[in-house]
Amino acid sequence: MYKIAVVPCDGVGPEIVVEGLKVLDAACRKHGVEYEKIPFDIGGDRYLRTGELLTDQDMADLAKVDAIFLGAVGHQDIAPGILEHGILLRLRFEFDQYINLRPIKLYPGVDCPLKDKGPEDIEFVVVRENTEDMYVGIGGGMRKGTPYEVTTQTAVYTRRGTERAIRYAFELARKRGKMNKLTLVDKANVLTHGHDLWRRTFAEVGEEYPDIKLDYAFVDACCMWMVKNPEVFDVIVTTNMFGDIITDLGAMIQGGLGVAAGGNINPEPGGVSMFEPIHGSAPKYAGKGVICPVATILSGAMMMDFLGETAVAKEIEDVTSAALGTGRWGDLSTRSGHRTAEYGDYIAGVIEGTITPDA
Ligand code: IPM
Ligand code: MN
Repeated sequence: MYKIAVVPCDGVGPEIVVEGLKVLDAACRKHGVEYEKIPFDIGGDRYLRTGELLTDQDMADLAKVDAIFLGAVGHQDIAPGILEHGILLRLRFEFDQYINLRPIKLYPGVDCPLKDKGPEDIEFVVVRENTEDMYVGIGGGMRKGTPYEVTTQTAVYTRRGTERAIRYAFELARKRGKMNKLTLVDKANVLTHGHDLWRRTFAEVGEEYPDIKLDYAFVDACCMWMVKNPEVFDVIVTTNMFGDIITDLGAMIQGGLGVAAGGNINPEPGGVSMFEPIHGSAPKYAGKGVICPVATILSGAMMMDFLGETAVAKEIEDVTSAALGTGRWGDLSTRSGHRTAEYGDYIAGVIEGTITPDA
């Protein structure tokens, strides 16, 4: 019996989590996997009510679960940064979820904005380092609001943090066995201190993986390749900041943010990992039922895979893939006219056998 923390948070978070759980319930029931859902009232609304972001009790309770299933963080009535640092990044950092795993996969039947590219061209994984870089919050400023204002926002890279992300990525490239290729995405031509550490670590660790081809791309060129020739990628490893940016681009080439799933992973024994769609809380769509929940549904599959419940994960991914493959959705954007619950009802229904998949 797994303990899963359910943390919908803000904006569209609650409505997509409902669909994610609908599908998870169906798949777990089918495969005899039991889990307890532990709801957490965390997010912008509680912050406005009580001033609390994450309490000691929240942290202690979250530390006891097998995984966290998260919706989205960000509230329109709260200044940018408060919830992001106070909730999302604190969870990633304190639970040392040092890998942010983001598959970029174009499913059959999903509209792709790239001309002449199909599912066979877009299937790679981004391993985003998740605990360092400009995200650590080191920096400051003076003379705020004057023409002489000065600020710094420091990018921090440690050998240990860099190495563990790179090592994870090499292992993943080997496990996938697709092209046996790992691309380091950096800006070593400009960031000659920090990204030199990344380059050296990559080359050193790479010596332990003679079966994996080491490949390099500067982040600007990576953006170009992702649009021009996405088929060149197998596994990408990159810094926190660049990983954030290129995975939004990745989401676009896989059909939109509505389909881009992710996991914040602590691979160590006893580590608490957290699964969430890569998109934000999209407050302007909150409560409207127009957001595509496929990213959240697939994050649920990633969570089950991580917990070792591979049959459940495969069930969710296969049925979701087949559902998208029918072409009944195609356009997964908010303009498509599709309803949030439609996706979950259909996918859960196929898993349960109450809906016959369309031809
Ligand atoms: C993401 C998000 C977060 C990030 C924000 C909400 C802090 O954009 O998960 O990609 O920058 O990591
Ligand atoms: Mn992002």
